[in-house]
Amino acid sequence: MQVYGLVGNPVGHSASPPMHEAAYEATGVDARYVTFEPERSAIADAIAGADALGVAGLNVTIPFKRDVLELVDPDPLAERIGAVNTIDFGTGKPNGYNTDAAGVTRAFEHHGVELDGADAVVVGAGGAGRAAAFALADAGSTVHIANRTAAKAEELASVVPGATGGGLETLERVGDADVLVNATSVGMEAPTETPVPAAHLHADLAVLDAVYTPLETRLLREAADAGAVTVDGAWMLLLQGVEAFELWTGLDAPVDVMNEALRAHLSND
Ligand code: ATR
Repeated sequence: MQVYGLVGNPVGHSASPPMHEAAYEATGVDARYVTFEPERSAIADAIAGADALGVAGLNVTIPFKRDVLELVDPDPLAERIGAVNTIDFGTGKPNGYNTDAAGVTRAFEHHGVELDGADAVVVGAGGAGRAAAFALADAGSTVHIANRTAAKAEELASVVPGATGGGLETLERVGDADVLVNATSVGMEAPTETPVPAAHLHADLAVLDAVYTPLETRLLREAADAGAVTVDGAWMLLLQGVEAFELWTGLDAPVDVMNEALRAHLSND
């Protein structure tokens, strides 16, 4: 039996175990998916220990995505993003990947949204914002990054091909954009908050909210009211997990089964 898992702190309510275990069951993979919650100072020991114990793969979440970068051999995309969310121990040494980026592009593709040639606005310049900005630029979009702390957006824009960045006034570009990603925590457990004023939303926009608690954020509700295509945060969570499953096992992921398990977990939480 193989052991996979999630390392983060906290990881108590994670939806990843039911999502991945549903995939193992559907594909006949003999594996379990468990959560690990080390102290921040123990992350290097945790990764070395997992390697020594023969753990097959780990997902990595807050607050460890950046810390892990120097503990593994990152692929070029993870290196550019500056964050690792998936480790594969299968090749004898820990290799690091960032499947959050594929989670963003696959979520839009799943909803029929064309990213090549699109004008995109990303709100947020933290870990999720970095993954979204690189993912969209690599898919052929022109990316504008809006962040509360303008300097972080400007710094990110300087390394993402063709991107621009600035403070929240950059949100005015949403009016002419095709694609919008919320990669901030605004709206999480706060149904009255939104990162983007409703006046900027319009019918030619596709909006992905990385927040998935609640699934219908104020941003997505107002985007739907404006006639936009809406993509909730569970799609990004699902499709980063799909990408990790495929990387680890080499199999096509049972996407519908994983989606059902994930949404069942989120609606019970
Ligand atoms: P993650 O890894 O999930 O992206 P993070 O690195 O802590 O988390 O980044 C959080 C993002 O949400 C940042 O872009 C942050 O803006 P700052 O860089 O200015 O801190 C943004 N954010 C958090 N709370 C916010 C708020 N109330 N209004 C606007 N942006 C907010």
